Amino acid sequence: MHNKMKSMILLAALLGATGAAQAEESVWTWLGSIWRQNEVNAVSNAAWQEECGSCHFAYQPGLLPTQSWDKLLDAKALEDHFGENAELDADTLKEVQAFAQENAADKSWYKRARKIAKATENGEAPLRITEVRYIKRKHNEIPEKMIKGNKDVKSLSYCDACHTQAKKGVFDEDTVRIPNYPDWED
Ligand code: HEC
Ligand code: HEC
Repeated sequence: MHNKMKSMILLAALLGATGAAQAEESVWTWLGSIWRQNEVNAVSNAAWQEECGSCHFAYQPGLLPTQSWDKLLDAKALEDHFGENAELDADTLKEVQAFAQENAADKSWYKRARKIAKATENGEAPLRITEVRYIKRKHNEIPEKMIKGNKDVKSLSYCDACHTQAKKGVFDEDTVRIPNYPDWED
């Protein structure tokens, strides 16, 4: 079992045993809020939000495994980030790297992040979320005309063009709306 999970259960058990009813309740509320999450952990770091949200929406770290972030968030790699210069000063880079390390798919308990971790557990470290097998499979029935041929989408990389709650880390199919194709259903 994951160490963090182990210590949370231990903590909950201890609080229960000492009869600290109030503290116990807040721990359970907190655990519940983690276990109820279906999606990915929202972005909670201001530098990440600002620096990584200026050209596209700020992808949540839970959408890729640690090894992918290590490759993407390398100082040299950022100078040529998908053809753009996305370099960061040394301090910001450190902060952004740490945020990715702590919240990458393989470190997260959120359902979507777990699926991404599972799809890459053989060591695959794609540079794109759209290359993760699980993400590819979820979109392979959408016709190209609704993505590349759609002036309000252009590429599958722009998650928030269709996922109306992407910024909150919610990708559930019930929250999808493809621009210019209001009636599309698979
Ligand atoms: C100067 C603009 C710019 C900045 C700043 C920037 N990016 Fe990007 N990013 C891009 C472009 C352009 C693409 C490719 C989009 C496409 O293929 O349509 C991209 C793609 C990505 C992808 C792959 C998306 C996919 O296709 O699955 C990830 C992941 C990513 N960026 C993460 C980051 C992170 C993390 C940061 C902050 C450290 C960041 N980006 C900052 C321009 C930027
Ligand atoms: C062209 C619009 C569009 C774009 C852009 C898009 N998606 Fe989707 N996505 C969909 C649709 C439509 C579905 C539902 C597919 C289905 O029900 O079979 C979906 C499904 C998903 C699912 C599964 C949801 C579920 O309830 O099973 C995830 C996760 C997801 N997308 C993540 C992403 C991420 C991350 C990005 C950006 C890298 C992205 N999507 C970009 C349209 C899009």
